[in-house]
Amino acid sequence: MPDISPILAAIAECAACKTDRDALGQVAVKAVHDRLPQAGWTGIYWLHDDELVLGPYIGPPTEHTRIPVGRGVCGTAVAEGRDQVVPDVRERSNYLACSTTTRSEIVVLIRAGGKIVGQIDIDSDKVDAFSADDHAFLKLVAGALGSLLVDPQEPSARG
Ligand code: SME
Repeated sequence: MPDISPILAAIAECAACKTDRDALGQVAVKAVHDRLPQAGWTGIYWLHDDELVLGPYIGPPTEHTRIPVGRGVCGTAVAEGRDQVVPDVRERSNYLACSTTTRSEIVVLIRAGGKIVGQIDIDSDKVDAFSADDHAFLKLVAGALGSLLVDPQEPSARG
């Protein structure tokens, strides 16, 4: 599993990360993208009320900048309160295509104070690109982000 300590160090060195969650997300997205060579697109969506709103990302622009809760793989993660690991997106009828070359996707929820506040979303052009180890690594990153986010009481946060 990739080591999480350089990510924590990068966050600690980022002064803006203490008050700006997009700055925090940007550091995390870059660190994750650099450590997962199979990633073609890595981004964060923040939850605002019943909608996921695209935050920092690396990769080609996506038309899915706002995703209602319950739609797509991303919205399903929030609606079900469960991370999503999709080995082959062609087998998911609710998949929202970011790129025609994407074959697998992982979505890991970010919780602050026990409430969902966003998610890390990664696409790969490889089938079954995300291992249990990768998932465990991303959960550590999401946990670190959640512990640094100060607004768990925001009304948009979900249990
Ligand atoms: N595939 C996602 C949409 C986000 S793009 O992949 C960046 C979904 O099905 O919700």
